[in-house]
Amino acid sequence: MEGKLSILYICFVCLNIACCEEINLYGDAGQAYSVEAYLGHPHQKLKLLVDTGSTTLAIASYARQNSKEYFHPDNSSSIYDSGKSVQAEYSQGMWSGRLVSDFIQFPSLPTIPEVRSDIALITQSHKFFMNGSGWQGLLGLAYLPVGAWGDGVVVESWLDSVDRTLHKQISFYLKLCGPISISNSTHYGYFKMIDDHKPVKPIKTFRTPILRKRWYEVGVISIRVLSPVNTSPNDSQIVRDTVNVPDEDMCLKLNAEKSIVDSGTTNIRLPDNLYRQVVDELKNVYRNSQVFILDEFWYQGEAGCWPEPQVWTLPWLAIDLLSADADNQYFTLEIPPQNYMRVVGVYNSSDKTGTVSEYCYKLGLEAGGSETVLGYTAMEGLQVLFNRSAGWIGWQTSDCGTKARITGPYNVTKSLKDTCQLIRPVSEVAISIRAAQWALCAISLIAAAVLIYLLAPCIKTFFVRRLPSSQQISLSQAALVEQDNA
Ligand SMILES: *[C@@H]1O[C@H](CO)[C@@H](O)[C@H](O)[C@H]1NC(C)=O
Ligand SMILES: *[C@@H]1O[C@H](CO)[C@@H](O)[C@H](O)[C@H]1NC(C)=O
Ligand SMILES: *[C@@H]1O[C@H](CO)[C@@H](O)[C@H](O)[C@H]1NC(C)=O
Ligand SMILES: *[C@@H]1O[C@H](CO)[C@@H](O)[C@H](O)[C@H]1NC(C)=O
Ligand SMILES: *[C@@H]1O[C@H](CO)[C@@H](O)[C@H](O)[C@H]1NC(C)=O
Ligand SMILES: *[C@@H]1O[C@H](CO)[C@@H](O)[C@H](O)[C@H]1NC(C)=O
Ligand SMILES: *[C@@H]1O[C@H](CO)[C@@H](O)[C@H](O)[C@H]1NC(C)=O
Repeated sequence: MEGKLSILYICFVCLNIACCEEINLYGDAGQAYSVEAYLGHPHQKLKLLVDTGSTTLAIASYARQNSKEYFHPDNSSSIYDSGKSVQAEYSQGMWSGRLVSDFIQFPSLPTIPEVRSDIALITQSHKFFMNGSGWQGLLGLAYLPVGAWGDGVVVESWLDSVDRTLHKQISFYLKLCGPISISNSTHYGYFKMIDDHKPVKPIKTFRTPILRKRWYEVGVISIRVLSPVNTSPNDSQIVRDTVNVPDEDMCLKLNAEKSIVDSGTTNIRLPDNLYRQVVDELKNVYRNSQVFILDEFWYQGEAGCWPEPQVWTLPWLAIDLLSADADNQYFTLEIPPQNYMRVVGVYNSSDKTGTVSEYCYKLGLEAGGSETVLGYTAMEGLQVLFNRSAGWIGWQTSDCGTKARITGPYNVTKSLKDTCQLIRPVSEVAISIRAAQWALCAISLIAAAVLIYLLAPCIKTFFVRRLPSSQQISLSQAALVEQDNA
């Protein structure tokens, strides 16, 4: 009897999960994930990129080349126009616009009511919306200090509007799943909101503290290449590095500027010298393998294409994060090669011999000056909960995407906050200025990534026949940039 009841209960829970878990994030190859939103009255349907690396809800309000989808402010009866200008500039481009407010609702988030929110209406931009980008705006999910700016203008975020309307704190999670299938590189995922006052299911969650509430700044203790697995294809046993005490020097370098979790960035971005160190190690492990990979793939962000889908036997990456439970504790995200050998496109091209398929990949790691950014490459295959009010990010394994894992917690003898200097005070002025700059930089990175991937299929490809077992086609990034200027 009891057994039956519990089976019934389990079914009920399953149904509950099934009904509430609806895929609501999609992204084209090389682009971040976007969610559908209804803006204004009557509703206008738009796609917004889900971005934990910025704060402002910013939406295109004019037709761009090759994109006729945008928000028509004149058609909304509920819009309020402040007339104040807001803007964002970055190294490669900019957008500028007006601060307005209007109603916004997400059809895939039934528990969140329609709210009036500040919106930066983009009226002009330069190299921000790329050709054919599948989204018309950004949904910034970070904290207020890194919002867009203008003269005496504070742009409230959508999340703050929701909290204010509901009179309670809401958390959200992202469950990013990667490509739909081996032959379709469109990626999908889930974006869900959770009421902080609802009891949460007791699922094992590893929590890392948000060190400063601007971006989602976390303590990254180290990034390691795990020893290759020679055991069963089960992946049930990964050989852990015997040294559990993280490298102090690496820890200081990783957090010298800051480390953030940013769903709007594609890759895992590491400080220059650490990037080199990690990639050298990966490349050395791979050297003995059958498949030939050009250096341009490893070091210059170029795509590598093969006539058949690749099964990567590369090592896993370990990302150690400070634990929220104790200063001297960390846990490890274990990222399989399927995450960082990113599928960027599956193309069919015809030549004299018939139709040839190309499966193209890019390395999901890049160098980034002195900062560390955990882009969506580090989040795929995991469920990541952003508890904004309590100030922590929770990591869980997920039922979709790659088989990424989380292990730990591991104790060390000293406080990691002290050892890695994670709690340096930052003066308030410096924060707001640097914050603005960084938000823009993040945007530029998204834009640049989109540009490169969109152009990729147009580029003439060539085969490099060095090893008969597998051919790699190289797509030159330099050529792509030239094409854009032409
Ligand atoms: C906006 O309104 C104009 C005229 O009132 C109409 O032609 C147009 O289809 C509307 N556009 C949208 C996106 O609703
Ligand atoms: C933009 O994309 C369209 C088709 O989506 C294509 O016809 C056009 O040539 C592209 N423009 C550039 C500059 O690549
Ligand atoms: C990939 O999947 C998406 C979503 O299911 C679909 O809209 C798209 O047409 C598919 N693309 C190809 C090339 O099959
Ligand atoms: C956020 O954190 C607070 C305090 O730790 C907790 O009470 C709340 O349940 C958390 N929210 C979620 C969705 O886990
Ligand atoms: C793979 O894992 C399953 C269950 O975890 C186990 O029963 C099986 O023996 C494993 N296979 C190998 C080859 O280790
Ligand atoms: C490529 O061609 C194969 C077989 O001809 C087909 O099954 C597949 O859907 C095609 N893929 C794309 C992206 O068009
Ligand atoms: C690790 O540290 C925590 C908190 O200091 C403590 O509760 C736990 O027992 C320690 N675990 C081990 C294995 O030493």
